[in-house]
Amino acid sequence: MSEMLEHVKTCPISQISPLHPDLLRCPYDMNRRLRAEAPVHRDPLTGIFFISRFDDVVAMAQDPETFSSVMPGLSSRAVNSDDQEILDIMAQGYPNVPTMLTQDPPLQRRYRKFVDGAFGPASLRALEPFIEKTSHFLIDQFAAGGRCEFLGAFGIPLPLRVIASQIGLPDKDLHKLREWTEAFIGNLSQQLDRDGTLRAARGILEFQHYFVERLEERRKSPQDDILSKVVNASIDGETSLNNAECLSMLSQILVAGNETTAASLTEGIWLLIQNPEQYALLEADHSPEMISRFVEETLRISSPSANMFRRTTRDVILRGVTIPANSVCFARFASANLDDAMFADAMRFDITRDNLREHVAFGRGIHHCLGAALARREMNIGFRVIFERLKNFRLVSGASAPDFAPNALLHGLTGLELEFDRR
Ligand code: HEM
Repeated sequence: MSEMLEHVKTCPISQISPLHPDLLRCPYDMNRRLRAEAPVHRDPLTGIFFISRFDDVVAMAQDPETFSSVMPGLSSRAVNSDDQEILDIMAQGYPNVPTMLTQDPPLQRRYRKFVDGAFGPASLRALEPFIEKTSHFLIDQFAAGGRCEFLGAFGIPLPLRVIASQIGLPDKDLHKLREWTEAFIGNLSQQLDRDGTLRAARGILEFQHYFVERLEERRKSPQDDILSKVVNASIDGETSLNNAECLSMLSQILVAGNETTAASLTEGIWLLIQNPEQYALLEADHSPEMISRFVEETLRISSPSANMFRRTTRDVILRGVTIPANSVCFARFASANLDDAMFADAMRFDITRDNLREHVAFGRGIHHCLGAALARREMNIGFRVIFERLKNFRLVSGASAPDFAPNALLHGLTGLELEFDRR
């Protein structure tokens, strides 16, 4: 165990800086202390306020007038750099316009209604056969070998292929979409050095140029896909969206959709390996209800969208702490989901718990995840196909326990070396 993980158990609470890479990887002990002793905690290094209890996180998410999502600065490192080389790269692209996730009402609602339909029940029903076919296709690639690195073999490609098909992009470009997703994630991680930031800035620029070309194609000949919906959007006689607005929405749909679902799919299998008695329950009963319970409990424990930025629009007093106007706050969805006050013995992975659907892995209120129903379908169908074809999941013998990546906003495993038997 790292020195920091030891230190955080006993050090004075005021010294805890939740953005330390070891604590981003393994936040559990720190979060337990923060919820108990400092539910509103000011990071001594950055001045960011961390809000960790379930009730407070829900209240924040439901009060966008006080806790704004418009965040000039901080949310993106390359965009806010003062490094000339990085600025020169960004100058060749489009400005970062706040849209759904990074916007407040009423504009936030306006952007969302352009794409809500693409994630509604009818579109998702039509997508189910594709999710099932893709799950089989991916398992076909590795099943015979009896082992795989699950994140790369299934966790990443399933949501990537699904979102690419919905956006309207060809399979031949999947690897580029993955690279650009990593550029955006790196940029959000707050963990990049200068070289990494330069690479991320170049990736984002390439993403912009590629997507502007695709948008032009759809402007001329629309199809039944998200590109066409975004570029030809005109609701109630409103003017259409410009390229920068389209790019902002597409980057959110691409990045939010890929990384989070991949993380939960992978952590789900890891949770089964760590909790054989829960795995036995699922083995005994693969019904849709049991798989859905497993999915929700996995979402609660994994909470891949671990933290989200907010900015206070006025002075706020919360749990006796004054948060001045214009402060950056983190709504800590992952910590809220492990709050014992809401979920009894919350660290316990238990697919039979009564209230497992009450988690906030998809947020709450007006920013509630656009892709929640899609992610749920991918997980329910993907896991069902996995359980139909594979069993006896275990770590590859001799492999060390998987590790989580340090990222200020997202939480997910870096990989999972998996062994299994075929049915
Ligand atoms: C397990 C998978 C996922 C998790 C855990 C997750 C989590 C979240 C959370 C917590 C929020 C709220 C953020 C906030 O309050 O600031 C959110 C918003 C959002 N998510 Fe997801 N998400 C997932 C999958 C997806 C997918 C598949 C898409 C694809 C479209 C998506 C697109 C979005 C967008 C565009 C928003 C912003 C909505 C708005 O602000 O109006 N997410 N997501």
